[in-house]
Amino acid sequence: MLLMAIGTALPAEAVSESELDQITERWQISVHALNEVNCASCHQESESNAFVANPSYESCQSCHEDPVDTFLLGKHGIRLLEGESPLTPAMARLPMKHDALTKEMNCNTCHDVHSVDTVQAAVDACLTCHNDTHSLTYENSKHAELFLATKELPRPGPTAVTCATCHLPRTGFDQSDGTTLVKVNHNNTYTLKPQDRMVGEVCMNCHGVEYAFNSIFDPELVKANFDRPPALSLETFDMMRAAEKLRSGNPSDEAE
Ligand code: HEC
Ligand code: HEC
Ligand code: HEC
Ligand code: HEC
Ligand code: HEC
Ligand code: HEC
Repeated sequence: MLLMAIGTALPAEAVSESELDQITERWQISVHALNEVNCASCHQESESNAFVANPSYESCQSCHEDPVDTFLLGKHGIRLLEGESPLTPAMARLPMKHDALTKEMNCNTCHDVHSVDTVQAAVDACLTCHNDTHSLTYENSKHAELFLATKELPRPGPTAVTCATCHLPRTGFDQSDGTTLVKVNHNNTYTLKPQDRMVGEVCMNCHGVEYAFNSIFDPELVKANFDRPPALSLETFDMMRAAEKLRSGNPSDEAE
């Protein structure tokens, strides 16, 4: 029924019948359809029942409070929180893809809202806008190699490192197995400051602390998106080891 309503409410030239069919097909095999989230869940104002042609993040809010809250706190979403126009690549200081300059940031910018395929959202979506050396070299990294090899639905697996793994980190353990991280922190600024926050929140799920620090604090390696092992050896660690030696100057330790 609503499908028809959407078809007729939109200007005929805006969405063709075949486009509508394609949207419906993508939705039919999505997690949303499985969970009975239908066209009306997003395209109908809950109070007034008014039809919404281009739903914004408000339409996701009732079901996805946490992604919305965190998205609005990061660089990507903060303009919306402040009631300003959405962020676009044209406003950026960082290099951006030329044909994306007018693309407006919202939930649907990374998520195809009709298929909600999170694999596509984790790398491909980012690269429709980001165009700096770090972003572009990701594909040369071991992390990318692993992601390509293990690409799995519905979400990237715990061993694959995508742009989102580092910049939209997962938190919160699944109660059923106690190991899978389920919630995605959509604040894309969160892991950048302070600089070592990403070490604890992300890298140490897989790497040792020293390996991670030596990687993160090497600007060349960050620029190259970790496409080689760290060459740096931070003095802090040498100092920590020296301090440990001094402190452990007792017989039981010397016996080791
Ligand atoms: C999870 C929320 C959600 C569901 C479910 C959903 N939509 Fe949408 N839809 C959106 C959003 C957000 C947009 C606007 C942004 C975009 O086009 O990516 C949109 C855009 C559209 C458009 C305009 C596309 C264009 O190119 O202008 C059509 C038509 C449409 N939806 C039809 C449907 C139909 C039919 C269904 C059910 C089979 C459906 N939608 C289910 C969120 C949803
Ligand atoms: C009526 C409730 C409802 C609305 C509205 C809704 N969703 Fe969902 N969404 C769900 C449910 C239920 C799931 C499946 C369980 C889960 O992963 O939380 C889900 C899953 C998802 C997933 C994860 C897919 C995966 O593969 O794990 C994404 C991404 C998503 N929704 C995005 C959106 C966006 C973007 C909007 C708004 C445009 C939206 N949803 C609107 C209920 C909703
Ligand atoms: C619509 C285009 C677009 C898409 C898609 C997009 N971004 Fe961005 N992103 C931007 C813009 C614009 C900025 C602001 C850059 C600036 O001010 O120089 C930004 C900033 C960032 C920043 C810096 C945040 C800060 O606080 O300085 C990170 C990290 C980032 N994006 C990661 C990602 C990741 C990861 C993805 C995919 C999961 C992604 N982006 C998808 C446009 C986009
Ligand atoms: C910059 C790109 C980007 C934007 C913008 C974005 N998402 Fe996501 N989202 C992702 C990626 C990537 C994942 C999967 C990451 C993973 O599984 O490691 C994800 C996962 C999700 C999930 C499933 C995990 C969870 O925490 O429940 C939901 C639901 C979701 N997003 C909803 C939203 C909503 C609602 C918005 C708008 C407020 C939004 N997303 C905006 C990239 C984005
Ligand atoms: C293994 C973790 C990791 C992966 C994977 C990763 N990044 Fe980053 N990213 C970082 C670190 C660390 C920084 C630098 C933070 C700093 O300079 O303090 C950074 C910086 C950035 C910045 C610049 C922020 C600024 O203001 O200068 C953007 C944009 C960005 N990443 C986007 C991406 C995109 C897009 C991808 C995927 C194509 C990606 N990153 C993959 C860890 C990662
Ligand atoms: C989900 C697990 C996981 C996370 C999270 C992760 N990595 Fe990795 N990383 C790996 C795996 C697996 C490899 C490949 C190891 C190998 O082939 O020997 C790797 C390789 C690397 C390499 C070496 C690349 C090469 O070519 O030898 C560097 C450097 C690195 N990671 C840094 C980081 C940093 C810094 C972070 C956090 C910002 C991080 N990783 C987060 C799993 C992870």
